[in-house]
Amino acid sequence: MNPEPAPSHTRPLPAAAPASGPLPARGRLDLTDIQFRPGPGPDAPLILDGITLRCEPGEFVVVVGPSGCGKTSLLHIAAGMLRPTAGSALLDSAPILGPGPDRAMVFQEHGLFPWLTAAENVEFGLRMMGLPAAERRHRVESALRMVSLSTAGHKLVHELSGGMRQRIAIARAMVVEPAVLLMDEPFASLDAQTRTLLHEHLQRLWWQTRHTVLFVTHSVGEAVRLADRVIVMSAHPGRIRREIPVQVPHPRPMDSPELADLGRIVRTEIQEEVARVNAELENGHR
Ligand SMILES: Nc1ncnc2c1ncn2[C@@H]1O[C@H](COP(=O)(O)OP(=O)(O)OP(=O)(O)O)[C@@H](O)[C@H]1O
Ligand SMILES: [Mg+2]
Repeated sequence: MNPEPAPSHTRPLPAAAPASGPLPARGRLDLTDIQFRPGPGPDAPLILDGITLRCEPGEFVVVVGPSGCGKTSLLHIAAGMLRPTAGSALLDSAPILGPGPDRAMVFQEHGLFPWLTAAENVEFGLRMMGLPAAERRHRVESALRMVSLSTAGHKLVHELSGGMRQRIAIARAMVVEPAVLLMDEPFASLDAQTRTLLHEHLQRLWWQTRHTVLFVTHSVGEAVRLADRVIVMSAHPGRIRREIPVQVPHPRPMDSPELADLGRIVRTEIQEEVARVNAELENGHR
C-alpha cells in the first residue's frame, strides 16, 4: 500500500498493484436507491432510477453506458452539484449536501483558467481554502511532480499540449487532497497515444494516493484497463444493468487477453442495451 511518496517520474511502474495493507480511512461513497428527475413534478423525465452503488475507500470504479443514460448526472450527484430527487448520497456516512473539497472533479474539458500559469491553476483551490503561501507552494510542487510537470509550472495554458493540460487538471484536483476523485471522460479529447500515457500516469497516482475514483468513460478499453469494477448502466431510465469486477493485476498491458475478454463482455452488454433502447424507440414505447 501507499508506496514511496512523490517518486520521480522516471520510476518504473510497480510490478503489481499493492494487494494488501490498510485501505485509506476515508473515501467511502454510498449512493442508495438514487432517483433523479431534472425538474419538479412527476412530468419531469426520470433520468436515474434505483441506483445503488457503493465505492469502497481506495476503489477505482468505472461507469459505462449508452449516451444519455445519466452517467454525468450520477457524477454530479456524487459531487453535490445535483441533489437526487429520492435516495441518499453519503460520503463517509455524512450526507452530501453540496460541492466540497473532499470531492474533486476532472472533466473532459480541462477547465483551466487561461490567464493563469499551470502552477497558479493548481494553486487556485488552495487559495480558496485559505492555506498559507508556504503550504501552498509545497503542495503545488508536489502535485506538479506527481504528474511529471515540475518544469512546466510557469507555462500558460496555451503553451501546454492537450495531454499536459489534462495532467494539470488532474494535479489541480488532487492538490486539495480529496477523499474521492470524480472523473467525467477526462481523456476523451486526447489522441490514443496520449491517452495510453495518461492511463499509466493515473494508475501510478492512484497507487500512490489511493483516492477513491469514480470514473466515467465511453471507452471500454479504458474502462477495463483502469477499473477494479466496471458498472454498465442501462438507459431511460438510468439503472445499473451489470457490475463486472476486473481482477487483473497491475500493470495491465494493453494486449492482455484477460482484459480483451472482459472488454468483450462489457461491449456486449452496452450493445444489447443500445439495441433495447433503439427497439423501444422504434416501437413507440418512449
Ligand atoms: N437539467 C436537465 N434538464 C433536462 N434534462 C436533463 C438535465 N440534465 C440532464 N438531462 C437529461 O438527462 C439525461 C442524462 O444526461 P447525462 O448527461 O447525465 O447523460 P450521460 O450518460 O452523461 O450522457 P453522455 O454519455 O452523452 O455524456 C439526458 O437525456 C439529458 O438530456
Ligand atoms: Mg456525460
